[in-house]
Amino acid sequence: MTSINAHGGELVQRYHPNHDTSNATGEIELDLFSLSDLELIAIGGFSPLTGFMNQADYDSVVSSLRLADGTVWSIPITLPVPEEKAAELKKGEQATLVYDGQIYGTITVEEWFTPNKTIEAENVYRTADSAHPGVKKLFDRPSVYVACPIILTKRLDRGRFEEYHLDPKETRAKFTENGWKTIVGFQTRNPVHRAHEYIQKSALEIVDGLLLNPLVGETKSDDIPADVRMESYEVLLEKYYPKDRVSLAVFPAAMRYAGPREAVFHALVRKNYGCTHFIVGRDHAGVGDYYGTYDAQTIFEQFSEEDLGIRPLFFEHSFYCKTCGNMASTKTCPHDSDSRVILSGTKVREMLSNGKVPPEEFSRKEVVEVLIRGMQKVSV
Ligand code: ADX
Repeated sequence: MTSINAHGGELVQRYHPNHDTSNATGEIELDLFSLSDLELIAIGGFSPLTGFMNQADYDSVVSSLRLADGTVWSIPITLPVPEEKAAELKKGEQATLVYDGQIYGTITVEEWFTPNKTIEAENVYRTADSAHPGVKKLFDRPSVYVACPIILTKRLDRGRFEEYHLDPKETRAKFTENGWKTIVGFQTRNPVHRAHEYIQKSALEIVDGLLLNPLVGETKSDDIPADVRMESYEVLLEKYYPKDRVSLAVFPAAMRYAGPREAVFHALVRKNYGCTHFIVGRDHAGVGDYYGTYDAQTIFEQFSEEDLGIRPLFFEHSFYCKTCGNMASTKTCPHDSDSRVILSGTKVREMLSNGKVPPEEFSRKEVVEVLIRGMQKVSV
């Protein structure tokens, strides 16, 4: 095992395929979002959570980024159900958790409550604007939150990239097997472009191993699909990364686009996966202009090292600089924007779907080839 403890102390384990669901008195229909949360709670990714949040934890997280017992936690993990459905539930009894007609687990219904979603949006997303994809999702989902402990009885379909689905206990075992004591986690919902590669490798200069941990749960529809991205990671790692220093494993969570709060959440979850360090670059988990470029870094100032238990590594906006003749960042490059190769995510996606090739200084050609093929398949 790596030397780092799970958040809150113990790695939560709540996957019990033989758990008896026959005495359940209720049934709750999950959406994809809560299905992935269910799995992440059960495999310990969300340790110390053992279920969907009760009102005490929820209120505390929304108002002060801590669970009711003081443990740092920045994103509400909730199970929204329609009001009529909540009215049918019986306190103290089990309800099955169902997706697409299949039982994935159970929840012991300890309580349910009606949240103030406007406050949740303003605190967690820093906006109640429904044009924000995370806020829209929040308001689109049902209005009552059911708590608390869950059991997962069935694992989710892992699709084509089965081998990269590692639970936190498996990534921890792998790090130990590799002899890594310090591991930096990298969250991404994008292909790995040169700037990502630069900050990953800069971090890798000071730690033993890199966990490339792309988020593959629900993302907004114009993000590049996970399977296309997975193929692009494979070709990149094959050619440009040292095999004995990098591990690729998926992070099966849904994307919240909550910027600063999600950066803290992403760091804590990677601690559960066994990472000791976590990369936070520019506008981490941001969307549109809702967050300042470095808000997702400054939010960490409010926590002590002991509170977090994982060390964030901050990187400034990185790019290729033609005058420097190498990758650089706003911290290390003295030149102006004419020298810097910077493209927005939207611009790159647009180029790729039109079969246009972004410059080599922006993205490696092997990656671009996979993406163009993948994006054209998607748009057919
Ligand atoms: S995220 O929503 O998952 O954060 P993305 O995949 O774009 O989006 O970013 C992954 C990580 O790389 C984040 O920590 C982000 O801040 C960082 N990052 C992305 N692009 C750059 C860049 N050009 N310079 C510095 N950091 C970057």
